[in-house]
Amino acid sequence: MEKREQLYSGKAKSVYGTDDADLYIMEFRDDTTAFDGLKVESLARKGMVNNKFNAFIMQKLEAAGVPTHFVRMHSDNEAVVKRLEMIPLECVVRNIAAGSLVKRLGVTEGMDLTPPTFELFLKNDALHDPMVNEYHARSFGWATEAEIARMKELTFKVNDVLKKLFRDAGMLLVDYKLEFGRFHGDIVLGDEFSPDGCRLWDADTRKKLDKDRFRQGLGSVVEAYEEVAHRLGVPL
Ligand code: TMP
Ligand code: ASP
Repeated sequence: MEKREQLYSGKAKSVYGTDDADLYIMEFRDDTTAFDGLKVESLARKGMVNNKFNAFIMQKLEAAGVPTHFVRMHSDNEAVVKRLEMIPLECVVRNIAAGSLVKRLGVTEGMDLTPPTFELFLKNDALHDPMVNEYHARSFGWATEAEIARMKELTFKVNDVLKKLFRDAGMLLVDYKLEFGRFHGDIVLGDEFSPDGCRLWDADTRKKLDKDRFRQGLGSVVEAYEEVAHRLGVPL
């Protein structure tokens, strides 16, 4: 596979064209950002850890019947992915209250959420990723009613698969964010699943093992990601 020109560079990943019109190469960089890009640092090994972690999770999801854009790893910090037409929405499921939910509703961090919540956010750093609802998504043409229903169905399916996967490895999946796109008429999971876009706590001590370590300046960020990978048996 021939890697061609860079098409897009986001806060933590870059996308390159290839000689196949249906495929991209997605590079996981060491760059780490928080607060919509306000806090930026380069953390050694993070790109490699997230690429390998994402490959492991995407393959588990695909095996469970969630269509994903992941095709194969290309190098330590790159993956071959399907070329999706991205939908500019972030689908967030929460099993336990944390992060923006705690601030918005004044609830206690760590509260169990039964049933888990589903929220949509508009992917727009300049507007600080505002929360939107399904009517906004339809009225502004970001997604159709059927597409929203499918994204919600797949996002909850991911919860079933990953809650158990992490629980069996001694961790709680607190919340996570997914992004979807269109591929030849189907809704397909894109972007990544890594500790950059979810919250994971140790099941016994509730120690944070995700990007909150970076957001809150707790230190040992990549070390925590490596511990999560190690517990799941992801080869690094
Ligand atoms: P929040 O508590 O900040 O709303 O985030 C909920 C989850 O979604 C958390 O695991 C982080 C993830 N997330 C991102 O990775 N990027 C984003 O832009 C947003 C809004 C959330
Ligand atoms: N990923 C977003 C950012 O870089 C939001 C966050 O994770 O805090 O700013």
